[in-house]
Amino acid sequence: MSDYKYATLAVHAGQHPDPLTGAVNVPVYLSSTFELTGIGTDKGWDYSRAGNPTRDRLETALAALEGGVSGHAFTSGMAAISGLVAMLRSGDHLICSNNVYAGTVRLFDRIVSGYGIDIQYVDTSDLDAVAAAIRPSTKLIHIETPSNPLMVLTDIAAVSQIAHAHGVEVSVDNTFLSPALQSPLALGADIVMHSTTKYLNGHSDGLGGALIGSTPEHKERFGLVQKAAGGVMSPFECFLVLRGIKTLPVRIRQHEENGQAVAEFLSTHPKVSRLAYPGLKSHPQHALAVKQQKGFGSMLSFDLGSRDAAARFLAAIKIFLSAESLGGVESLASHSATTTHAAISDQERETLGITQGLIRLSVGIEDKDDLITDLEQALAAV
Ligand SMILES: Cc1ncc(COP(=O)(O)O)c(C=O)c1O
Repeated sequence: MSDYKYATLAVHAGQHPDPLTGAVNVPVYLSSTFELTGIGTDKGWDYSRAGNPTRDRLETALAALEGGVSGHAFTSGMAAISGLVAMLRSGDHLICSNNVYAGTVRLFDRIVSGYGIDIQYVDTSDLDAVAAAIRPSTKLIHIETPSNPLMVLTDIAAVSQIAHAHGVEVSVDNTFLSPALQSPLALGADIVMHSTTKYLNGHSDGLGGALIGSTPEHKERFGLVQKAAGGVMSPFECFLVLRGIKTLPVRIRQHEENGQAVAEFLSTHPKVSRLAYPGLKSHPQHALAVKQQKGFGSMLSFDLGSRDAAARFLAAIKIFLSAESLGGVESLASHSATTTHAAISDQERETLGITQGLIRLSVGIEDKDDLITDLEQALAAV
């Protein structure tokens, strides 16, 4: 299966017909428990927290799409990040990109730090800063690239090289691009994390998360976290993600085409400033995006100058919906300061550049001319 090209893997990895009935879609095994064949023997499954046939199929698909050894599906992206750090110990040092989804910061600062894990936020787009931050107790560098919502890139290969020289692992939140557009493991990272809620599901109808490991040790470690801590994805959610994955390559193509068209339109609009889309040559890290990504995706952000202007824009959009989240077929616009980044302080937002005028777009797969017309009329209301 690993010899197949990406679009073939998306349709077929983990998605072979059901051996019992020949059903071409993976059945949803709504069973918490499984009949044992004897004492200590079973047909492959005993209890759904430890393993479920539908979840196994999704985990196989995720490992194939990311080129990993094992996939692990969790109830949400946050549950996946919790699983990622669950094996850190008191006294361990964790480096995290300073420009990440604020829910990650909330988890690290308000829960994980309470376990005695020392968390340091570093501008991981600055390789010297990464190298300087590593200590003997550093165990993991967690990066998000492109970052939410400012689209700052981190050089995955370079950070991995620095980390590995010190025996440190690197995990990458690959949510913004999906496995279709970025392969962190091939670039040298050790672990990939996803909020499957976004592009992998792709239809805004389920919540989920995933970890993909690159070694047998990761398989054992994350398998234990799933079984022991229990935050596993339900069989029905697994089915939805499996279904979403089949169309990921074609959806992503349209997302990207629309993202680029919307970014080019906004780049010439007089009311728009600080437009951040890695597919534009004006993006300061465009060259890195070309080097490490297979495309530029459909996430972008821009500044309208004030909270009032942002509010007028959000009230005027008609096709774009004013909503959190991203990666679904429908276009969404969100006010980062009061939605995705409400969890961090005003001062932290200010330092990062998440201003009251900042709008983040997740460009969907509607007709791009309609999307641009919608943005044009909403900007006219600003
Ligand atoms: C980049 C990123 N990582 C992780 C998460 C958390 O995922 P979930 O909402 O599925 O818990 C999000 C959610 O918006 C996100 O944008």
